[in-house]
Amino acid sequence: MLWRSPRREDAYEIHELVRQCPPLDLNSVYNYLLLGEHFSDSCLVAERAGSIEGYVSAYIPPLTPEVLFIWQVAVRESARGAGLGGRLLQRLLARPAMGRIRYVETTVGPDNAPSRAMFLRLAGHLGAPVHESLLFDRSLFGPDAHDDERLMRLGPF
Ligand SMILES: CC(C)(COP(=O)(O)OP(=O)(O)OC[C@H]1O[C@@H](n2cnc3c(N)ncnc32)[C@H](O)[C@@H]1OP(=O)(O)O)[C@@H](O)C(=O)NCCC(=O)NCCS
Repeated sequence: MLWRSPRREDAYEIHELVRQCPPLDLNSVYNYLLLGEHFSDSCLVAERAGSIEGYVSAYIPPLTPEVLFIWQVAVRESARGAGLGGRLLQRLLARPAMGRIRYVETTVGPDNAPSRAMFLRLAGHLGAPVHESLLFDRSLFGPDAHDDERLMRLGPF
């Protein structure tokens, strides 16, 4: 497996991967281009035989430099269940650019058991306490059906 930051040429393939990974919100190709362009230190792809098998996008919020906010984690369906998502997160946190990070935050839908299991396992690996709260109520998303976005905060570690 090759672990690397996303390149411009990956944006469309990442977009297609996310399309195949419900319940993730599918963002525009332009969004994935920008993430790779401006947040390459905090985004990672796992590539095997020229194919992107996994992707994580994240950023450090400007006002909280000790927090890494994980936006999307996507693992190709055929590659799931082998810990690839967790390894993406651990490799990301091991980067020199993450030296000040003491918390991981993410939102997990109430029914997304695989995602919840992945983040709880990461918390165990980090020896980090986990705290959950409501971040974005479903009513904030307008008329389109959308789950609550619950904040899962891991740390301090
Ligand atoms: C969430 C996701 C990234 C996890 O990736 P992964 O590499 O399969 O992660 P893991 O191998 O650590 O498995 C995590 C959990 O997925 C479930 N799982 C295991 N095998 C699975 C399989 N073959 N297919 C689907 N889910 C499986 C299990 O609940 C597992 O937890 P457990 O090992 O404690 O039982 C992946 O399922 C995915 O891309 N889902 C769609 C997008 C999404 O929901 N992203 C997360 C929100 S940010």
